[in-house]
Amino acid sequence: MNKKWGYLLAILVAIVILLFAGGRIFSFINKKNKDVSPEYVFLYAENQIEDYPTTQGAKRFSDLVYEKTGGRIQILVKCDAELGSEMQVIEQMRYGGVAFARVSLSQLAEFVPDMNVLQVPYLYTDSDHMWRVLDGEIGDEFLSKTLSYDLVGLSWYDAGARNFYTTRPVKSLSDLQGMTIRVQESDMMADMVSALGATPVKIVYSDVYSALEQGLVDGAENNWPSYEAMRHFMVARYYTLDEHTRVPELQICSKAVWDMLSKEDQQILTECARQSALYERELWQEREKSSRKIAERSGVTTIELSPEEKEKFRTAMASVYEKYCGDQMDILQKIMDY
Ligand code: GCU
Repeated sequence: MNKKWGYLLAILVAIVILLFAGGRIFSFINKKNKDVSPEYVFLYAENQIEDYPTTQGAKRFSDLVYEKTGGRIQILVKCDAELGSEMQVIEQMRYGGVAFARVSLSQLAEFVPDMNVLQVPYLYTDSDHMWRVLDGEIGDEFLSKTLSYDLVGLSWYDAGARNFYTTRPVKSLSDLQGMTIRVQESDMMADMVSALGATPVKIVYSDVYSALEQGLVDGAENNWPSYEAMRHFMVARYYTLDEHTRVPELQICSKAVWDMLSKEDQQILTECARQSALYERELWQEREKSSRKIAERSGVTTIELSPEEKEKFRTAMASVYEKYCGDQMDILQKIMDY
């Protein structure tokens, strides 16, 4: 190839590269433009840490919504209770101050009492049973019950089973007698602990570590991932597998915000929330195992209850059913048989 053809070829290659890169640069600028001028920017509240399954689920939700609306709706996920405790967030959502959140059903039930029937002790035989209920018509019916507090229920997230963890070993129901146990800001949870013969103390999630460390309480109760992520395992070294409750969690939207949106956008939000829930449930399975490993490797003692002892826990909590499901016995039975 002589020099002239060599130059021509080089110019041709340069033109092709410029055209290709130019297109990319153009679409990058376009995307950036979308980034800076969305139609809506909403806040999403989450009280868990950044790498927790529910926070990762929220981020997936936000990404999906951004993608499906071509950047028109941007959702900023604020984790670590940056926007307040769950109770504070739920109150703010009524007025649209916070648009979205993922909350524990225990907290939501303080505002929507019918919800309690989904979290009474030993309700579900196992996790499959709970998902059959929540992913079916009963789950949908309860998502719409949030409307009574001006909220829109979008999807169900997993939070596994809750167990007691304490600073002294609890191997039997009698070991729990007289202990002080932290509970969520939930009347049902407080009554449940009283029914077991312990003294409940309502403490906000972010303060549980210091309450345990300072000896204000002898124990608390939660799933493995929370026990590990919040470092409670460093200060309450006995974890008793009584599996007293399975408390699902919900993604919710403020009704005030929901009503501003078009039917199409509402549909997109619902779909994305449901997709993000499937992702969260996958992450949950892994995190349950890894959290348990971390706690046990650090020297935590896991206590298995004998079937007889577990039965004593179950019987002791029967009074909670009366009080919290008394007027919903039909639905309770339906859930049990589902
Ligand atoms: C779980 C749940 C939190 C809740 C916490 C609690 O960790 O995911 O949302 O605040 O329980 O015990 O308060």
